[in-house]
Amino acid sequence: MAEILDGKQFAASLREPLAQRAAALTARGCRPGLAVIRVGDDPASEIYVRNKARMCQRLGLFSIELHLPAETSEERLFEEIDRLNQDERIHGILVQLPLPPHLDESAVAERIAPRKDVDGFGSCNLGMLLKGQSGILPCTPKGILRLLQSAGVALSGKRAVVVGRSLIVGKPTALLLMRENATVTVCHSRTENLREHTLQADLLVSAVGRPELIDGSYIKEGAVVIDVGINRTERGLLGDVHFESAAQKASLITPVPGGVGPMTIIMLMENTIEAAELAAFK
Ligand code: GUN
Repeated sequence: MAEILDGKQFAASLREPLAQRAAALTARGCRPGLAVIRVGDDPASEIYVRNKARMCQRLGLFSIELHLPAETSEERLFEEIDRLNQDERIHGILVQLPLPPHLDESAVAERIAPRKDVDGFGSCNLGMLLKGQSGILPCTPKGILRLLQSAGVALSGKRAVVVGRSLIVGKPTALLLMRENATVTVCHSRTENLREHTLQADLLVSAVGRPELIDGSYIKEGAVVIDVGINRTERGLLGDVHFESAAQKASLITPVPGGVGPMTIIMLMENTIEAAELAAFK
């Protein structure tokens, strides 16, 4: 039976040291500041953005939220981003996804100044990751790696299988695991015989957004399983992994909720504080 890899508890243990770093910056006259832009009224986004603002308050960061109507033009959104790029109180800018369909998420990510791109979704930061250099890392992949390190999971030389090839999670997670010397396979919606791949995995990361796609029959005995899925269904919030059957096989497994989610938000705080430190000590 697997042990639980408790992201909620580990993320909570990171709060106090981050609050201290934020306080030290504030004392030097450079209080870390995060701006979150939300366009339209996606109900899940509203909750995520509220949680981000609460965490800023808790750690002593300055935060502002800009809520724009769903019909906001690209031009208007870019004006707001340009203004925040110039605003010295703001060290991190995040545009909450998904955006309404008339807005190009990729173009929006490019508009954010790379030093303030705390999501790490712009070409500059993603390119640095691709090259193995240290830019700003996307929050969820960074949180996954930290969680694995906190549990002492060995990655070097191990087989990792990432299910999902999104720019937000799948691709950057694969790159980070490669940097840690894992042997990485990326599977996706067109992969044939998915189970043949996942059964090889010492580490399985699922980020596809399909409720309970991965059950115990996909998991090698003793594997570490990271479930990035947050799927809202009639049966409530479900991960990509069928927890009960997967836990029979895995040695370590993240729950949903309380696994990867809390790590993402605390890494956003860390990225904002790091961006402020760079601004303060430049
Ligand atoms: N929507 C869901 N996850 C994320 C994230 O990590 N960043 C942003 N900007 N939007 C999201």
